[in-house]
This record gives sequence, C-alpha cells and structure tokens, in this order.
Amino acid sequence: HAGPGATIRGVTTLADSAFLKAARGEAVSHTPVWFMRQAGRSLPEYLKLREGVAMLDSCLDPDLTTEITLQPVRRYGVDAAIFYSDIVLPLKAIGVDLDIKPGVGPVIAQPVRTLADVAAIPDLTPDSVPMITQAVEQIVAELGSTPLIGFAGAPFTVASYLVEGGPSKDYARTKALMFGAPDVWEALMQKIAGISAGFLEVQIAAGASAVQLFDSWAGAVTPADYEQYVAPYSALVLDRAGALGVPRIHFGVNSSLLLRQMGDVGADVVGVDWRTPLDWAIGQVGHRAVQGNLDPALVFAPTEVMLDRAAAIIDAGRMAKGHIFNLGHGVIPSTDPDQLKRLTEFVQSYPLD
Ligand code: CP3
Repeated sequence: HAGPGATIRGVTTLADSAFLKAARGEAVSHTPVWFMRQAGRSLPEYLKLREGVAMLDSCLDPDLTTEITLQPVRRYGVDAAIFYSDIVLPLKAIGVDLDIKPGVGPVIAQPVRTLADVAAIPDLTPDSVPMITQAVEQIVAELGSTPLIGFAGAPFTVASYLVEGGPSKDYARTKALMFGAPDVWEALMQKIAGISAGFLEVQIAAGASAVQLFDSWAGAVTPADYEQYVAPYSALVLDRAGALGVPRIHFGVNSSLLLRQMGDVGADVVGVDWRTPLDWAIGQVGHRAVQGNLDPALVFAPTEVMLDRAAAIIDAGRMAKGHIFNLGHGVIPSTDPDQLKRLTEFVQSYPLD
C-alpha cells in the first residue's frame, strides 16, 4: 500500500517520497496527493469500524486509530497518511471535560472564560498521551515508505472551542475575550500553544514525518488582529515542531488575506483554502511550497469536470516552490470514494514535464 513512487522506482525510501520532496521544495516525478479528512465518514469501512464506538474512544484506542489511519491509504494509494485523531483529543487526554457530538463537533462542558479557568487546564506531557505514541509507532511501521502527517489544532482554533463551549459562527465570546481581557487571552493562548506543541512533539518522536497545524477558523480575524493576537502563539508551536526537523504545513479556511502571515509564522508549506485561486496564493507565498486546493464539492460534479479543475490546479502549482495536491478543505462526508480514487490516480499520473 505504498504510494506510486515505490512501484515505479522499486526502492523508494521515506525520505525520497514525493510528498516529503514537494514539502521541501525539491523536484518530484509526480504531484503528491492526500486529502484532509481522508479518514472518516465518506468511507464505508470507517463507518463499519465506528459502529457503537464514540469518536473520542476510537481516538484513544491505538488499534482502531491505526486501522482507520491506514484505510484511505489502502483504498486510494495516496502519497501520505494523516493521523486519525482530533484537534481536541489532547485536551481530552489531559482531563478537560469534553465530547465530540455527531453532526455538531467538539462540545466543552465548562467553557473557559477566566484566568482561574485557564490555570485549571493541565499541561500536556508525553505521559499524558501514551496511546498516541503507541498508535503512531504502529502506523509508521505499517506504512513503510509512505509518510505519516501528524497534526494539531492551532491556538486560535482550539481557543474558539474552549471559549465558546462548542462550534460558533461569529466567535463573539472568543473575540470578547481577545479584545476585552488580553491577560486571559495571553494565558489561554500560551497554554494551548504548549499543549499543541507537545502533541506534535509526541507524534514526531514516534515517527511522524511531517506535521500540519490546523488553524481552521483563523480567517475570522483581520490581518492586524492575526498579527497581534494569533501569530505569536502559532509561531511558538511551529518553532517547536521545526526544531525536530520535519516539514510544517499550516492551513486555515477563508485565509486569503492571511496567507503571507501564516507562512511567516514558520510554515514550510502553506495550505490554501478552495476559495483562493492557487496562482494568486503562490504570488503571496511562492517562496514556500503550497498545498491545495480543489473545491471539495467538485467531487459531486461529473468526473471530467472534476478532473479538468484538478488539471488546472496542478498546472498552477508548477509555479510554486513545491506543490502538494489536496482539497481546499476536508472531504465532505457524502463524497463517493470512487471519485477520490479517480482523482488520486489522475493527479499521480499527470505529466509534469
Ligand atoms: O483524515 C483526517 O483528516 C482525519 C483526522 C482528523 C479529524 N479531525 C477526524 C474527525 C483531523 C485532522 C481533524 C481535525 C479537526 N477537528 C479540525 C481541523 C480540520 C478542519 O476540518 O478544518 C477541526 C475544526 C476539528 C473539530 C471537529 N471534530 C469538527 C468540526 C468535527 C465534525 C463534527 C461533525 O460531526 O460534523 C469533528 C469530528 C470529527 N473529527 C470526525 C472525524 C472523522 C467526525 C466524527 C465521526 O466520525 O463521528
């Protein structure tokens, strides 16, 4: 179940995988491809394994985590696996009372609003997450020359769940804290930065080859507010991951105006939302590699239409220092896996010369 590089060249090693080469800005023989949320509800084999098992319980069980992470690699032959977990899993592991409600998302029992609430959140150490170490070690052993991407939620996105108590449309309470109680905001963002960095370090130490920092909801703030209230803490996380020598991908939704800043806080690869034209994004951050950015809804178009759009994205990607093909946000649960299989094969066989 290794990517196509392994079959073409016989002895491709992890370090020469197309995914890691593109992330480092080196030449590749095909554009590497993986999909955000490739593991999950669009796969019948996932739904079967999850029958009667709560989301967070599946993330705390190394054997289930291993199997779910490998499922899309086997089915699609993608160029990288992404660790099956969640951005709130490290909080759960250190004892924050939360749940992931189907169709809703993370729900926090006691939202964080004061300095005392922040102080009550423990720090994360490798001892807090032995099941993560075990799962990553098992996955990496099975993957062979296919890289595993570890991930964490960025401080702003995780803070939005902790402060709101769940998903939000306007981030009103989060911004009330950010603008109105800067001391609490600073303490909270420092706390989450330490937890997210620790979560990444555990995955890297256990064998993850790259990491992605998800600041999915960072597009809710202006560039000036991003600089003041968000960037310093994301930089802390990316610096700690970078110190361990792995490529760092940094992704947000609705992030067009923030791309340059999201690169500058310490990304080797900037993830691009589907709303942003890829050539325009490359104009912003072309000295770094880019990842993206097919509209996830294009899988519902006729196959030829989807593949035409994919071709345009691969062509645009040639102007970047490196390009990793992906959707511009996660796989939509009702996606037909056969469409993603066709898309994967198309991207991997698209000629680059
Ligand atoms: O293949 C992968 O990418 C799987 C690993 C993964 C999950 N969550 C599994 C998951 C990753 C990388 C995440 C990150 C995550 N979690 C983000 C950032 C990525 C993004 O989409 O922007 C965010 C914002 C969360 C918080 C979260 N967790 C949400 C919004 C939801 C969806 C709620 C719903 O039911 O619609 C979850 C739950 C979740 N995380 C599921 C999966 C497979 C679905 C739960 C299920 O299967 O019951």
